[in-house]
Amino acid sequence: MSDARPSVLFVCLGNICRSPLAEAAFRIEADRAGLQIDIDSAGTGDWHVGSPPDPRSVAVAREAGVDIAHLKARQVTREDFHRFTHILAMDHSNLADLHELAPHDSPAQIALLLDHVPGREGASIADPYYGSQENFEETWQDAIAAAEALVGKFSTS
Ligand code: 4NP
Repeated sequence: MSDARPSVLFVCLGNICRSPLAEAAFRIEADRAGLQIDIDSAGTGDWHVGSPPDPRSVAVAREAGVDIAHLKARQVTREDFHRFTHILAMDHSNLADLHELAPHDSPAQIALLLDHVPGREGASIADPYYGSQENFEETWQDAIAAAEALVGKFSTS
């Protein structure tokens, strides 16, 4: 994928529902594959900065055996566009915001997370914030599918 050691930033709106799950799923799969990758998540908005993930995300991750309760939401910064080789948006709105924020000399590859999943290119990970626990379980399934696909790509690069 890239000559530099890869580093991946997962981005949603609040950094409390989807991107912490995408971060956790990718951490699990990258560790399992023995890949050395810097991984983080952030939100385009600032409403939840400093807050832990939504309790429904914490519960879904805990069921999968991973604790994300210690994470703290943060907002995307201009430095992120130089720090990360890949910046992956959960939906089209996040993607548009990222393109607007990106410095002109940013070398980061900016894309939708599901662009990396064969057959789901161009699709969004739906925002579960106003949904049910079931929606959070779907988010986790999407996050795992994306993590597996990404690990496959980074393993062969
Ligand atoms: P996230 O979900 O972007 O997946 O973290 C949301 C969290 C908070 C809000 C919207 C979406 N909010 O409107 O506060």
